[in-house]
Amino acid sequence: MEDIRIAIIGHGFMGHEHEKMLTKMDGIKLLGFSDIDPRQLEDVQEGLRRYSSNEELINDPEVQVVLIAANNNQHHDLVLQAARAGKDIICEKPVAMSLEELDDMVRVTEECGVKFTVHHQRRFDPDFRTAKEVFDSKTLGDVFTIKSSLYGFNGNMHDWHVYIAEGGGMLYDWGVHLLDQILWMMPGAKLKSLYADIRNVINFEVDDYFKIMMRFDNNITAEVELGTYYLTDKMHDKWFERHWFIGGNKGSAYVDGFEPEGKIVRTAGLLQNVGGQRTMTAAGPTRSFGPPPEGKILTEELPQVNTCHENYFENYMKAYHGEEEFLVKIPETRRVLALMDAVRESGRTGKSIDFE
Ligand SMILES: NC(=O)c1ccc[n+]([C@@H]2O[C@H](COP(=O)([O-])OP(=O)(O)OC[C@H]3O[C@@H](n4cnc5c(N)ncnc54)[C@H](O)[C@@H]3O)[C@@H](O)[C@H]2O)c1
Repeated sequence: MEDIRIAIIGHGFMGHEHEKMLTKMDGIKLLGFSDIDPRQLEDVQEGLRRYSSNEELINDPEVQVVLIAANNNQHHDLVLQAARAGKDIICEKPVAMSLEELDDMVRVTEECGVKFTVHHQRRFDPDFRTAKEVFDSKTLGDVFTIKSSLYGFNGNMHDWHVYIAEGGGMLYDWGVHLLDQILWMMPGAKLKSLYADIRNVINFEVDDYFKIMMRFDNNITAEVELGTYYLTDKMHDKWFERHWFIGGNKGSAYVDGFEPEGKIVRTAGLLQNVGGQRTMTAAGPTRSFGPPPEGKILTEELPQVNTCHENYFENYMKAYHGEEEFLVKIPETRRVLALMDAVRESGRTGKSIDFE
């Protein structure tokens, strides 16, 4: 089968990541890059093309697929241009800045008959896949709560991510991944309502903190929390924390870090009638929050998952050749955008929002 010939618009952070991966993948031939800032093309790898404009890239007859890795506010126009030139498209997340933009993109890509999907490679993150495997295996019984959190301990947001007009803010940046993961974890569940707190803690224009509570019709409440200004000086090797917690009536699971560590935790028998052990704390005695009787807490290893970001493009290739479906479907990305609108509305009004 012939290699799929891809060219990329935008040679910034994500453009470089794609360059590293796609130049090594069998089945894909990376042709080259364009960038609105020519200095960004100076370190394009030998042997790849440095297009003098997006138009030149889009109109290169050898290019089959245009991958758009430019700032969020550029996605709409670039998708339309590529579609009108008959190119298939992979767009970086967030696919669009609004539902209106996305609907326009869908209309034009359908009219032009081109393939259109979105780079949501975080569906293959090991921490997420581990949490999803635990959830799917039903090993925790009836799950009632899922918590997904990400904290930055240095207060850093960078470049155009601090400007509204460029599509900045953490909801567009990581929020779109964290929400996509929750929705994709439970594809059949309807999201009935949500409440969100969304703030600019230190940034003037854009959100740098959010907490989103979502109630699904499968009786699960999912909470997603992200903070960039969760300062600490105690981190020596990493300046972030990533956590999952899943709670059910047959056990809990915690999954910590991007290279996940954690456990499934159960109790040996019901604990409600064991003799209350008083534990003295500086805040007074407690029984419910004291240590369990000896041998009552049992742990199991988390499932091993075999997953990496290359899997996104492996699916892309198979789907491109008609062997399976594209993993990331546009209606799914639309649902995430609609959810982000509702999150903003809840954040603005302080009220919970009925969703589906
Ligand atoms: N999937 C992921 O995990 C992930 C991670 C980071 C960023 N992203 C997405 O990738 C996109 C790029 O983000 P980034 O962090 O690489 O930003 P970046 O600023 O590092 O790079 C963007 C590049 O696009 C160029 N550019 C801007 N407008 C352009 C235009 N009209 N035509 C051509 N080039 C243009 C800029 O000059 C810059 O070189 C964003 O949509 C972002 O949300 C995705």
